[in-house]
Formats: sequence, C-alpha cells, structure tokens
Amino acid sequence: MNEFEQDHNIEIQKQFAMQAKRFDQEGYPLSNTEYLKWAIDNIPLNKDYLALDNASGTGILARALARYVKTVHAIDASRPMLQSGKEAARREGINNIIFNEGFAQSLPYDDSFFDLTTCRLALHHFYDVYKPLQEMVRVTKTSGYIAIMDLVSPDDRQISTFYNRLENLRDSSHTYALTEQEMLELFRRYGIDIIKAQTRDVEMVLDDWLDLTDAPKDSRAAITESLLQELDGGKKTGMRPYIKDNKIYFLHTWMLIVGQKV
Ligand SMILES: C[S@@+](CC[C@H](N)C(=O)[O-])C[C@H]1O[C@@H](n2cnc3c(N)ncnc32)[C@H](O)[C@@H]1O
Repeated sequence: MNEFEQDHNIEIQKQFAMQAKRFDQEGYPLSNTEYLKWAIDNIPLNKDYLALDNASGTGILARALARYVKTVHAIDASRPMLQSGKEAARREGINNIIFNEGFAQSLPYDDSFFDLTTCRLALHHFYDVYKPLQEMVRVTKTSGYIAIMDLVSPDDRQISTFYNRLENLRDSSHTYALTEQEMLELFRRYGIDIIKAQTRDVEMVLDDWLDLTDAPKDSRAAITESLLQELDGGKKTGMRPYIKDNKIYFLHTWMLIVGQKV
C-alpha cells in the first residue's frame, strides 16, 4: 500500500466516524425503502446463501438482504459505522449478520466463500476500484453473483470532472464515480457475466446532502453557488439542479449492476 492509499484510508475513517450517527436518518435516500426494494428485486437471493456486503457501512443493504439469505457478512473500514449498524440490527431483531472491520481491497475471507457479494455506494470512495472488485470476484463462488450499486458520473468528460470535484468538496473521501460505461467495463475486465444493468435518478435535497457530511462552510457555499449558476444558464455541474418548495434539489444517478462469476 502506498502512502497516498494510506492517507486515503485515514480520510475514509475520519469522514465516516463523523457520518455514522446520522447515516441512517429517515427521509434521506440512503435508507429509502424504494431504493432498497430495487436492489432486493434485482439481486438473485436464496435462503441458503452466504452473502457478503462489502464496505457495508451501517449495513443498510446488509439488513435488507438478511431477510432473504442465510447469513450476511458485513465488512467496513469504519468502526463507528459498524457499531451503528450493529445497534440498528439489534433494534430490528436481525441476528444473521456478522459485522467485521476490514478493508475492501484485502478481504479476510477464503476464495469462493460466498454465494453473493454486494457493494452499495462505496465504489466512489475507493482509492482504486480494481482491487476491491478483484477481491469480490475472488471470494465469490463460481456461478455466484456480484452486485454493485453506485453513483455514476455524467458521460461528458468535462462535466464529469466538475461533478466529481463538487462531490469531493462536499466529502473529501469521494474519489471518483465511474461512468455507466466504465462500470460495465469494470465487470467485463474481471470476466463477470453481466446479467442486469439499470440506472435511475435519485432526488437529493441539497442542504440535507451537505448536512450529512457536515461540509465546511466555504465548500458548501461554492457548491451552492455552482448549482445556482447552472440554474441561471451557467456551466453544467452534472447535478441537474432544480428548485422545489423554495429548496434546491438535484439528481444523482444510481446504477445497479448484477453479474455472475463464470
Ligand atoms: C457512503 S457509505 C455506504 C455504506 C453502505 N454500503 C450503504 O450503502 O449504506 C460508504 C462506506 O464505505 C466504507 N469504505 C470506504 N472505503 C472503504 C474501504 N477501502 N474498505 C472498506 N470500507 C470502505 C466507508 O467506511 C463507508 O461506511
């Protein structure tokens, strides 16, 4: 691991120690049941499955999966996120999740251990996306499934550069959201047979989104200004802002991609 990756891991742990308490807050898209249902309806599930949710955070997806599989291992680099997840699972009466602290790029599991591996909304935080995906493929059984749900960047290179800069201003652990094409290529690169690839827009309230990361005042002002300028016909941010009920909203695009290890 080089020193930049080490620094990034520290940044991740700092950022999510801060987000852990409010991560599951009601009304925010992360725990919205509609988006969880989208995942549950499209990921192959079976009561005999041993599943892994990689970079699981508080286990929002792991908890949704737990009802449909035998056991879920939820691994994450942030102890406070895992702690919030454990408390939530206890409150919800879920007892088939095993929470583990660890890094997505060096999973502490044997080869071909899981029937299903998932990773939601974490790829765009990884220092590099290749090693975590390679690890997910390694720990998945042949004919097992790999499902990723993540933000995707706009296709246009210039807009995507601006978009990722704004995301990083709001959360310094944001690295890069792949484009749809890059996500498909990532699966193909590891020989995963793609069985589903879908996208959908997710409505975000700008202030709520900035509050979750406790974005610094100047970053907050710069992001808001960029969205207002776009609303005035200025440079495209890739965030597609609009005003509703006197609030600034914007759209994220989430991609769900499901493949089979061949
Ligand atoms: C935006 S949260 C998403 C959490 C969860 N997957 C969900 O969908 O609710 C990103 C999570 O990725 C974790 N993370 C980021 N980089 C990681 C890495 N290299 N290894 C393990 N966890 C990582 C963070 O600690 C954080 O909990």
